[in-house]
Amino acid sequence: MQWNSLVALALVAPSHALIRFGCSQLVVDRLDPLVNPGVEPSPHLHQIIGGNSFNTSMYPENHDPPKMSTCTTCQPSDDFSNYWTAALYFRARNGTYRRVPQKGNVGFEAQNGGMTVYYMQNQLADYAQKSKVKAFQPGFRMLIGSPLAGTKQEADKYPQLTYTCLQDMNTRFPETKAFPTKPCPAGIMVNLRFPTCWNGVDLDSPDHISHMSYPASGTFESQGPCPSTHPVRMPQLMYEVIFETKDFNSKEMWPEDGSQPFEWSFSDTTGYGNHGDYVFGWKDDSLQQIMDEECYVNCKTMKTQSFEAMNACSVPKKVDEDVGDTNWIEAIPGQHSGMPPM
Ligand SMILES: *[C@@H]1O[C@H](CO)[C@@H](O)[C@H](O)[C@H]1NC(C)=O
Ligand SMILES: *[C@@H]1O[C@H](CO)[C@@H](O)[C@H](O)[C@H]1NC(C)=O
Repeated sequence: MQWNSLVALALVAPSHALIRFGCSQLVVDRLDPLVNPGVEPSPHLHQIIGGNSFNTSMYPENHDPPKMSTCTTCQPSDDFSNYWTAALYFRARNGTYRRVPQKGNVGFEAQNGGMTVYYMQNQLADYAQKSKVKAFQPGFRMLIGSPLAGTKQEADKYPQLTYTCLQDMNTRFPETKAFPTKPCPAGIMVNLRFPTCWNGVDLDSPDHISHMSYPASGTFESQGPCPSTHPVRMPQLMYEVIFETKDFNSKEMWPEDGSQPFEWSFSDTTGYGNHGDYVFGWKDDSLQQIMDEECYVNCKTMKTQSFEAMNACSVPKKVDEDVGDTNWIEAIPGQHSGMPPM
C-alpha cells in the first residue's frame, strides 16, 4: 500500500483523528528503564526517541516526562513520551559488526535517524476513524514482543511485529515475521503494532504486557471487540523503524552459505525476537484532545515543531562504549560476554 495513494483516496470525512509523525534519534545507548531500571549498562543496546528526560530509571512515582523534559525529538511539541527498540547490526564475513543506521520515512528525510510513530483509532487505510478510543494515561508504559522468541511459533504470539523489505521507500508488503532473506535496496522497515485493549486499571504490569490485550476475536484492523478482562479500547500505537542497509547490500559482503547477515543487538539472527517499548509522556490531556479531533494526519490540535528543533534535542550517552557506528567492532556491545540476552 502506498502512502501517496492513501492520501489521494481520502474522500471520507474523519470522525476522529489518526496521527502520524516523525521523531529523530534521542540517543543510542545500553539502557532500558522499563525492563532493567537502574541497570547501567542494560544487557542490550537500544535506539531511543522522544523526550529528553529519558533516563536509566523512570519509575512513574518520581518521573513525569512532560515536567522533566526540556525538549523532544518528536514532531508534536507536546509529546515527551519515549519510544525504543533494540539496535540492529550487520555481521561481516570476517565476523566483525557495524551498527545499521536509521533514516526517516518519505517526507521525514530531514529528521536524524529515529522512527515514524502512529496513533490510530481504526486501521491505517480507514479515513473515517469512527471508533473512539481512550488515550493513554500519565504513568502508562508497555512493551510488546520478546527478545527470547526464537521460533516462528513463539513470534506468532505477537502477531503484528513484522519486517518489510523495502524495494523503494513506498513498499508496504509483504510483511514477514523473520528478517528478509535477500538484500533490501531501500532498507529494512521494522513494523511494531502494540495491543489495543487495556484492563482499565493498571498503568503497567510485571511483564509490561499483560495489562494490555489483543482483541478477543478478529484483530484491531477488523474492529474485533476487546475482551471483558481488558474492556478499554486504546489507540493503536505503531512504530515504523527504517534501517538504512545501503552500505550492506552488496553480494560480496553477504554470507557465502546463503544466510542473511543482520542481527539484533540481543544476538537474534532470525528476527523473531522483534520487540518495542513505550513510556507515555504527552503533556496534560493533549493526546486525548488530538485523538478527539476530526482529522486524518493533518490535525490542527497537534502542535508541531521544526526538524531543526527535533534534531537539536538529544541526551548524552551514559554507557561509554564503541557501538560500531564508524568502524567494525569485534562483538555487539554486551553480547558474547556470558550475560543473558534479556
Ligand atoms: C537521570 O537521573 C539521575 C539520577 O537520578 C539524575 O541525576 C539526572 O539529572 C537524570 N537525568 C535526566 C536527563 O533527567
Ligand atoms: C572485516 O570485514 C569488513 C567488511 O568487509 C572489512 O571492512 C574489515 O576491514 C574486515 N576486518 C578485518 C580485521 O579483516
